[in-house]
Amino acid sequence: MPDSVANPEQAPSGRPYLIVLGNEKGGSGKSTTAMHIVVSLLREGRRVGTIDLDARQKSLTRYIENRRAHVTAKKLDLPMPVELVVAKSALRSVDDAEADEKARFEAAYMDLMDKVDVIVIDCPGSDTFLSRLAHTAADTLVTPVNDSFVDLDLLARVNPNTYKVEGPSLYAEMVWKARQRRAMADGSSIDWVVLRNRVGMLHAKNKERVERVLNELSKRIGIRHVSGLGERVIYRELFLRGLTLMDLKEAGGIDGKGMSMSHVAARQEVRSLMDALNLPFRQNTKVS
Ligand SMILES: Nc1ncnc2c1ncn2[C@@H]1O[C@H](COP(=O)(O)OP(=O)(O)O)[C@@H](O)[C@H]1O
Ligand SMILES: [Mg+2]
Repeated sequence: MPDSVANPEQAPSGRPYLIVLGNEKGGSGKSTTAMHIVVSLLREGRRVGTIDLDARQKSLTRYIENRRAHVTAKKLDLPMPVELVVAKSALRSVDDAEADEKARFEAAYMDLMDKVDVIVIDCPGSDTFLSRLAHTAADTLVTPVNDSFVDLDLLARVNPNTYKVEGPSLYAEMVWKARQRRAMADGSSIDWVVLRNRVGMLHAKNKERVERVLNELSKRIGIRHVSGLGERVIYRELFLRGLTLMDLKEAGGIDGKGMSMSHVAARQEVRSLMDALNLPFRQNTKVS
């Protein structure tokens, strides 16, 4: 991990706050949630940088590029982040590749350090060296999971009959190690928030069981679980224009139609999610 990130002795005071979106599963909502966090923070007047570690899909970067194109085409004045991508190394030896990736990750961080207040890092849905670097450097780690046991399986092994947690899974162990490395590097902790994304698709009974397992996991592996975004078409629809619900008023609604009740409800979901993240630098922020 970059010592300059985790070691306050080396980092100048007032370094950017790091929010990392991670889990080892694709399609759980990391990039979508990342974009909503980025735009919410921009709208509060903060300077935001992004590092996209999923250089294959580049969903977050594409989202931001779409935003830039839309803003230019429609002559809008919407706040923009500074976006960077750090791709996997092409070097063949594992040691060389890791050294190369570490150097480029640190360079991206250094590049953003003086320019932004917050850095949002979007990880790929697989275990990579870059993703581990990001996890260790995180101040807040956000793990979106869909409300199902398939997704929870990445956090813990659950007994199929009793629904008791039998032990942590690979990803939880990876985060555990990242927390240990972080504690050794600068004595600080990583706030791990598991966010239930696309809530509402499933049967109430299932929801209740998922909730029970998450409650148990809170104590066992040190997560905070909060409800995130509901299952809504609007979260997919705005991607091509690079907009989020937080922009709709200023962007004149969707196709000039203004905001529907469901959009207003969705925007409230995003605001609640931001509050639930409990970001220390935003404690006194009055969400408008
Ligand atoms: N709350 C939601 N409601 C509806 N669709 C969603 C929601 N969150 C994510 N999606 C859709 O699910 C797919 C995967 O989301 P994405 O953010 O790309 O996940 P990840 O980055 O974890 O792979 C995308 O098509 C996205 O538009
Ligand atoms: Mg993604």
